[in-house]
Amino acid sequence: MDRILNNQYPIVCIVALSENNIIGDGTKLPWHLPEDLKRVKKMTIGNPLIMGRKTYNSIGRPLPGRANIVLTRKIDWFADDIIIANSFYQSIQKANSWIDKNFDNKEKKDKNIYIFGGSEIYNIAIRYCSKIEMTLVNTYIQGGIKFPKIKKKEWKISCLEKKEDKVSNLSYSYWLYTRLV
Ligand SMILES: NC(=O)c1ccc[n+]([C@@H]2O[C@H](COP(=O)([O-])OP(=O)(O)OC[C@H]3O[C@@H](n4cnc5c(N)ncnc54)[C@H](OP(=O)(O)O)[C@@H]3O)[C@@H](O)[C@H]2O)c1
Repeated sequence: MDRILNNQYPIVCIVALSENNIIGDGTKLPWHLPEDLKRVKKMTIGNPLIMGRKTYNSIGRPLPGRANIVLTRKIDWFADDIIIANSFYQSIQKANSWIDKNFDNKEKKDKNIYIFGGSEIYNIAIRYCSKIEMTLVNTYIQGGIKFPKIKKKEWKISCLEKKEDKVSNLSYSYWLYTRLV
């Protein structure tokens, strides 16, 4: 697995979490933040996404304009317009191949492989991520699925923007974590 550490395309984690690290209840997100979803789309379009089968089921359809690579251990699982991977290493290989096949050398320079969740996939992938694009939602949620604990001293941490959702009254902020070690 250490061969993934020097992968030819950066592996970037993208996540929205609460103040106490909750990312979902097991089947869906705990909030609805349309502006955040638009930002995620803008950031990830034209790139491969790697997600767990439970996250794929919670979304319920492939996200357009991106390679949707779904990790599952089930040998007979199938969905239209999905690239299936049976191990994390295979999901990275398939993401690399998808970029290689679909883009020229100039375009390839801007490509990232996005780790799209959920918790099981973040847990496997976080050690290979050079960046985390994080949305921190100013709320505490009891129970649920957690983002793995990360050692803050291993990252350069920058707050990019503070936002507020008028409908839910939730405030949230965008953070960029860049790996130092
Ligand atoms: N807030 C956010 O940014 C965010 C992002 C994404 C997801 N979520 C939330 O996270 C929750 C789902 O997360 P989760 O941790 O329960 O599930 P998950 O990580 O989405 O999916 C877990 C599944 O992935 C497959 N898998 C895991 N490790 C694998 C491996 N090494 N090789 C092959 N397949 C593997 C297995 O599928 P099989 O069972 O098919 O074998 C496993 O059941 C939902 O509530 C969702 O809304 C939140």
